[in-house]
Amino acid sequence: MKKILLIFGTRPEAIKMAPVVMRLSEAGTFQSRVAVTAQHRQMLDQVLDLFNITPDYDLDIMSPAQDLFDITGQALAGLKGVLRQEQPDLVLVHGDTTTTLVAALAAFYLQIPVGHVEAGLRTRDKHRPYPEELNRRLTGVLADYHFAPTDWARDNLLAEGVPSERIWVTGNTVIDALQWMAQKVGSEPGFWSHYLKDRYGLSLDHQRLLLVTGHRRENFGEGFRQICLALRDLVLQHPEVHLVYPVHLNPQVQQPVYSMMTEAVGAMVKMGQATSIKLNGGGRLTLLPPLDYAPFVYLMSRSYLVLTDSGGIQEEAPALGKPVLVMREVTERPEGVWAGTVKLVGAEREQIFQGVSELLTNPNLYQSMAQAQNPYGDGCAAARIIQILKEAI
Ligand code: UD1
Ligand code: UDP
Repeated sequence: MKKILLIFGTRPEAIKMAPVVMRLSEAGTFQSRVAVTAQHRQMLDQVLDLFNITPDYDLDIMSPAQDLFDITGQALAGLKGVLRQEQPDLVLVHGDTTTTLVAALAAFYLQIPVGHVEAGLRTRDKHRPYPEELNRRLTGVLADYHFAPTDWARDNLLAEGVPSERIWVTGNTVIDALQWMAQKVGSEPGFWSHYLKDRYGLSLDHQRLLLVTGHRRENFGEGFRQICLALRDLVLQHPEVHLVYPVHLNPQVQQPVYSMMTEAVGAMVKMGQATSIKLNGGGRLTLLPPLDYAPFVYLMSRSYLVLTDSGGIQEEAPALGKPVLVMREVTERPEGVWAGTVKLVGAEREQIFQGVSELLTNPNLYQSMAQAQNPYGDGCAAARIIQILKEAI
């Protein structure tokens, strides 16, 4: 029986690889193993728990102020031992994180074939997203099997000289994970509404929920300042909205977001805690710690729109019929823009404010974005990947 080793390290990789892990073990055709670098710790663990995945190897590399050198060096050294011990027939990696690139490189050093899930996304700007654009491109050079989520991603790979017989269009496994979770959450909405109220004091009745996330390295500094100013403007000028922002655990995100909000309200806002910030007397801007996937999907499904710089959320929100405003200048996922469900607003105060205001005040525009078709998948991507592997390796 051939052995497949899946390697990942962060929250989004875990969410998007979970359907592959589950389908692989159901298929029974391969021996499958999981190694996590744990480039993320808490944010990874909640996904592992949710999907019942117990890694065979856990390198536990995360440190509080890690940089790209730390992740690269520690993951590469740790994976050497894992790969030598397991000697898999194939390593599967996902997406564009530093764990992805390092795992593909480590496999290449030991001449082990690499399969790349979510291959072929591109902005062609090596600094945006940073460092993900190059992580993904370099992984593409190292990979032997390319699982492209869309036709456009396949065409990018073809244009770079990847042979067509090495590329398969599968859809994005994020839609598999989301459908599974949305069904679970949808069957018990009262539970999640109480959970958010009991745990975080969050009550959403009678307000338009604007769900916000942001963590991109290229938005550190001025980008986050602009985002926070836009959030404050929106709450002050649109009394019908409630902005909910689960803040990523990266200190480079927590620190500016909490301190700028402290400045905006003239009161202490405690880092990492659930806080409803009162502006003009109304608690309509709530900062939360990162949420587990289930309550996060519940919040997406309850939202009026989503404001984000995330990759995965750009794919998920359209599948739930939610317009997405993306706080970036360019995206490696343009299909959502072409489908009319995603709009780029940059990390710029005025553009973010205008983009959200338009959607709040123009019902036709809102409907056209909310009803556009999700271009990222049909929920069967993982099954396709397993079928392809059965025939190809
Ligand atoms: C990483 C990925 C990025 C991906 C994002 C998803 C790289 C270079 N970046 O960025 O592509 O979009 O994950 O969220 O691969 N932290 C915790 N606990 C956690 C997770 C993070 O405390 O569970 C804090 C730690 O202080 C850590 C810091 O966040 O040092 C940064 O984590 P890191 O993985 O380096 O960067 P992200 O911004 O999370
Ligand atoms: N997500 C989550 N809790 C949160 C924020 C996001 O579970 O508080 C999920 C989200 O639904 C998506 C994934 O995390 O599946 C996206 O991760 P992130 O935005 O950190 O990374 P990116 O996709 O930008 O690499």
